[in-house]
Amino acid sequence: MTMDRTYTINYREYATVDALAPADRELVRLAVSAAATAYAPYSKFHVGAALRLADGRVVTGSNQENAAYPSGLCAERTALFAASAHYPDQRDYEAIAIVGCNHEGHLCEAAPCGACRQVMMEYESQQGHPMRVLCYTADGGVREFQRVADLLPFGFEM
Ligand code: THU
Repeated sequence: MTMDRTYTINYREYATVDALAPADRELVRLAVSAAATAYAPYSKFHVGAALRLADGRVVTGSNQENAAYPSGLCAERTALFAASAHYPDQRDYEAIAIVGCNHEGHLCEAAPCGACRQVMMEYESQQGHPMRVLCYTADGGVREFQRVADLLPFGFEM
């Protein structure tokens, strides 16, 4: 039988960063600091990510570009891969905060790209519980997704 189905996701929007719980506010602040470490001479778009491990440790990342463009890496994967490589026994991620910063130094929206969603989804799937995603929004607030899987419907898994 043919069925038309609808996929719905729930998410929360905080009007300001200050509206977040203290630990998440700190995570966004660390993502903002991480954006300053971006190597983005080509796009001039700086992205910062801050990943909180279940033990409370935070690992940050920023986008790292290269003259051979596809060789560069997004902030989210930089943070995730660094965390996974440095703390293989703590591969348990509670939340990731992501912020963008344009060439004028203004914070701006940064939604994770498809490849980063795929990578985040695999860690989430492996750890067996949700990883929240906090994205800075264009109007200075934060969009909170309860789980990565919501951002990648029907994502690839083996
Ligand atoms: N970028 C990220 O770091 N994260 C994303 O989720 C989207 C894009 C980076 C890649 C590139 O260095 C720059 O932003 C412009 O695309």
